[in-house]
Amino acid sequence: MSNPYETQRLVDEYLLFHYGQDHEILPWENGPVSALNFPVRTVTALLPPSHAHAARALDIGCATGRSAFELSRTCAEVQAIDFSLAFIKAAQTIQSAGALSYQISLEAHLTQPLTAELPPGVHPERVTFQQGDAMNLPASLCSFDIVHAANLICRLTEPLRFLQRLPALIKPGGHLLLTTPCTWLADYTPPGRWPAASTLDWLKETLLPDFTLAQQKDLPFLIREHARKFQWSVALGTVWQRR
Ligand SMILES: C[S@@+](CC[C@H](N)C(=O)[O-])C[C@H]1O[C@@H](n2cnc3c(N)ncnc32)[C@H](O)[C@@H]1O
Repeated sequence: MSNPYETQRLVDEYLLFHYGQDHEILPWENGPVSALNFPVRTVTALLPPSHAHAARALDIGCATGRSAFELSRTCAEVQAIDFSLAFIKAAQTIQSAGALSYQISLEAHLTQPLTAELPPGVHPERVTFQQGDAMNLPASLCSFDIVHAANLICRLTEPLRFLQRLPALIKPGGHLLLTTPCTWLADYTPPGRWPAASTLDWLKETLLPDFTLAQQKDLPFLIREHARKFQWSVALGTVWQRR
């Protein structure tokens, strides 16, 4: 399968998911509003309030960059990595130009132009975006206070390889903020590498030797495909503290 995250359709879908106003994403009165602003909530709901303000953070699987910018509000340095060059270029344009035009789908061939804007109050100068592979991170990449990995693991061909790299990435006392909708699909991950039982049990088995489970929280999110079709999902959010 060619990488769907390199397509313009998904760049546009993620620009709306990350930067869209509530009414732009969900133009329906009775829709699931609690599922809006997911890339902000993965930071605000999971980041320990007491973390050091000199913190170094890594956002891995950053997509079009919203959570990385949110981390920059309180972290001195944010490295943001994604495998999709198209996503990284979109994030870098918002960082340097402050805005990026895109199209959202209404239905069929009908589209509407929108602009993704750098959120007020963030510190783009603290963020570095780069293309990279979560399963093949350079050995020199290390010593983060915070690693944020939202909805990444079930999009990896070898999720265990990424999880096994985490103890070396995070300083003792540092935190891993992990979310996953547990949507395991053979298109991304061979079924032999899916968790044998629940994703939470598999995470505990893999991470507990090096981390303590500090928090667990369900985080709903909404991805709009077009004006009348949405994906409503509930991510399992967990916070792990490195021993
Ligand atoms: C479901 S999206 C989640 C994006 C973002 N964290 C969010 O919550 O909106 C999965 C992301 O993981 C990225 N990704 C997939 N495989 C990757 C890999 N091997 N290394 C780094 N990023 C990867 C995709 O390009 C995509 O941006």
